Amino acid sequence: MLSKGLLASSDLNENEIRKIFEISKKFSKNSELPLLLQGKTIVNLFFENSTRTRTSFEFATRRLGGVAVNFSASTSSIQKGETLIDTAKNIEAMRPSCLVVRHSSAGSPQILAQNLQIPVVNAGDGFHEHPTQALLDVYTIEEKLGTVSGKKVVILGDIAHSRVARSNIHILRKLGATVSVCGPPTLLPPKPETLGVKAAYRLEEVLPEADVVMALRVQLERQNRMQVPSLEEYSRIWGLNLERAKLLKPGVIILHPGPVNRGVELDPEVADGPRSVILDQVTNGMIVRMAVLALVCNPKGVEKWLS
Ligand code: CP
Repeated sequence: MLSKGLLASSDLNENEIRKIFEISKKFSKNSELPLLLQGKTIVNLFFENSTRTRTSFEFATRRLGGVAVNFSASTSSIQKGETLIDTAKNIEAMRPSCLVVRHSSAGSPQILAQNLQIPVVNAGDGFHEHPTQALLDVYTIEEKLGTVSGKKVVILGDIAHSRVARSNIHILRKLGATVSVCGPPTLLPPKPETLGVKAAYRLEEVLPEADVVMALRVQLERQNRMQVPSLEEYSRIWGLNLERAKLLKPGVIILHPGPVNRGVELDPEVADGPRSVILDQVTNGMIVRMAVLALVCNPKGVEKWLS
């Protein structure tokens, strides 16, 4: 089902999402993992910084017996003027099984997929999509709450520049959750209703109703100029601190894709508190990426292992 790769969460239907979760769950319960990526080489082609995504794709590859090759843009011939497509075609000529791509330009993985024969997995493209992040987020919600269907998920912060928000909205809605976004007007999408979400500007309006809260970083690197007066003011009005967390119902979980700017969107006491599932998201990121890579590189092996 993912034999051509994974470019966007909007490309996935409910059955495909459920299949990825089924495989992820089976991986998480097996202390001995199947070597579904033996003989496969996965190249991590990252043109933007990453801690969690790149490392977890590397772990995922190795845990299933594959070889991970990490490409570093800063020491590559991109610096001498080589284009993205030429770079990717040259790497493809070395016969890897799959490319995992992160790039600051929205649409880059799609362009590569059109120009290459091998599958491409999107590891985050500009403010467009981050499909494996959304899969791991929703997998984590279901692990903690049983199901996401019927749950009220509130996404806080810089929604306008967030590929994480966009990908999550697609998957959460497909699986039956209700999604609201909340933040400063300058950081919300211009027409939230076109995304199928409700918008609010005050945390106090949305927190008491939430089952799940997902806090996002203010993505200064994707803004031409800062769209809030200052980070101090942002934190004072839209930061999730202990006082505001008291508005949450019992059992509500708090997610954040990382990196967390402590004291801005989340206070340390909340980020490290009992409701936080931030590090579970990281563990699940590796597991969900194992499932995605196995389906991309060895779908027949996956079916055999599941049967
Ligand atoms: N969540 C996420 O994409 O983190 P990294 O930028 O560290 O990969």
